[in-house]
Amino acid sequence: MPDLNGWSVLVTAGGTREPIDPVRYVGNRSSGKMGNAIALEAHARGADVTLVTTMPAPDTIEHVVQVETAADMAEAVWSRVVDQDVIVMAAAVADFRPATSHDTKLARRSAPAVIELEPTPDILAGVVERRRDCLVVGFAAETGSLERAIEKAQSKGVDLLVANDVLADGSGFGTVTNQVTIITPDGSAQPWPLLSKAEVASRLWDMIPGLRG
Ligand code: CTP
Repeated sequence: MPDLNGWSVLVTAGGTREPIDPVRYVGNRSSGKMGNAIALEAHARGADVTLVTTMPAPDTIEHVVQVETAADMAEAVWSRVVDQDVIVMAAAVADFRPATSHDTKLARRSAPAVIELEPTPDILAGVVERRRDCLVVGFAAETGSLERAIEKAQSKGVDLLVANDVLADGSGFGTVTNQVTIITPDGSAQPWPLLSKAEVASRLWDMIPGLRG
């Protein structure tokens, strides 16, 4: 097992929550389990791990930054890019947020018929802009063909993209197992079998150090 002594690793995990008012949010089904497994495995291999997450974090992770929104996550990640050797972006970041967030709870009688949305910051793009020689691993939740994931691996400036069919049995949000396909920027796609999220994390850390060609 290659060790990660002396490596600084940042992992994002969980789904961001974009407020409508103090009580309600626009969110997604991410449980944070995949990101936690990646953080734990890096820690077990000796890395100094920072976990930026919206979900409860494992006790053993040394630096935990709790965030809620995509904007919070962007700030937490971008301010730490230059200190990292590897950044793994396993979080399910909301692509859109309510354009207006109300300071007080909306009453039933004043519920808006439509919630206007605006784009959130693209955290991964900001990481790629700021990085020096840091490796960047992205995730892509897909619900069908791998074509879009292959395009993302080629266009986003990542060193590796982990595509995840969130509709496949035993795979995706909330499960303890995952079926992923590993895609490199040259467009090659290697499907892995259905594995525990801990096993996916372990195989990823077997691969990642070798990406530093
Ligand atoms: N991501 C991000 N910031 C966002 C949205 C996504 O950094 N605002 C990151 C995710 O953490 C993930 C990668 O980008 O590592 C791919 O996410 P995905 O939602 O699949 O990519 P999009 O470009 O948003 O693609 P789509 O058009 O399918 O929504």
